[in-house]
Amino acid sequence: MQQAEPRSNWSFRAAIIRGRTVERGWGSIHDAPCEFLFKGHLMELGDRVVLVTGGANGIGRTFCQRISREKPRGIVIADRDLVAAQAVAQEIGAIAMECDVASETDIQAVVERTRTEFGRIDIVVSNAGVTAKGGFETPDADWQRLWNINLMAHVYLSRATIPGMVAQGGGAFVVTASAAGLLTEIGSAAYSVTKHGAVAFAEWLSVHYRNQGIKVACLCPAGVATDFLDMEDPIHQFLHLSSVTPEYVAECVIEALHNEKFLVLPQPEVAEFFQFKTQHYDRWLQNFAHVHTRLQKRRERAATKAATVPKQAD
Ligand SMILES: NC(=O)c1ccc[n+]([C@@H]2O[C@H](COP(=O)([O-])OP(=O)(O)OC[C@H]3O[C@@H](n4cnc5c(N)ncnc54)[C@H](O)[C@@H]3O)[C@@H](O)[C@H]2O)c1
Repeated sequence: MQQAEPRSNWSFRAAIIRGRTVERGWGSIHDAPCEFLFKGHLMELGDRVVLVTGGANGIGRTFCQRISREKPRGIVIADRDLVAAQAVAQEIGAIAMECDVASETDIQAVVERTRTEFGRIDIVVSNAGVTAKGGFETPDADWQRLWNINLMAHVYLSRATIPGMVAQGGGAFVVTASAAGLLTEIGSAAYSVTKHGAVAFAEWLSVHYRNQGIKVACLCPAGVATDFLDMEDPIHQFLHLSSVTPEYVAECVIEALHNEKFLVLPQPEVAEFFQFKTQHYDRWLQNFAHVHTRLQKRRERAATKAATVPKQAD
């Protein structure tokens, strides 16, 4: 027999669902004091100091190019690919710094140099990320690499920047996660898990620092047409079908910064899939399993074809 639904704690429910106060006397939870950055609910982007990781290529590079049009005080591009970062920096008048985001020491050095150069940091875009194919058989070294880059880098960067932003009266912190962090990534267990971690960490930051003037956004695109997509892989080919340009993604992030929005979804259908997941979890799992099976078959066919095509003579 089904147990009766326990009586809900109404005041808590009202607070979470409707944004009402948990206890009398708290004031509205929407009254976040953030006068430094916001006028009305619009964040001013001009004259800010912006730090972007993974800004040498793809989404990060395009975001740097886009935000440079807002006339920021400074942009710092932190990337392990220094040559490419320098090229972008030269184009938009930014500063390039070599940094492996998996290393807390590297991140601390970048943050220190940025503060020395500009005196403050206002907007952080924690964007660098990598993927690896495979399921539970993925080698531990790859699990660890994705854990460090896709999750711990956000922890290191927030640890190094958010206390300073709180002290200066406000700031913004953008986590680039992925639709895989809300749904799943067919063909990559480590990517799915670490991007779920990134979404969870972004939510946690938002809950704990929103009322101290820190605006957190979490970018969750599905496919984006960058070098990140391996066009030899049927799964990435599938993602490419619904992919958007990095220019469009950069515009979505700018809009989210302006409008104080947490979840940034360049593909709005991701919101629908996410809602479907929470409402019909088993059907959602079944549907994704079906897509996985079809893509797996396509992958096997492609592998067979590649094996039977006669090799060209040297
Ligand atoms: N392209 C997509 O389809 C897609 C979809 C969803 C989410 N994302 C996420 O968006 C972010 C950016 O992806 P992208 O498409 O621009 O990829 P990209 O490969 O084009 O660019 C990634 C950049 O990050 C840098 N980078 C990688 N590892 C680093 C490290 N350890 N330290 C410092 N820099 C490092 C690379 O040098 C590169 O400049 C990633 O977090 C990725 O997971 C991408």
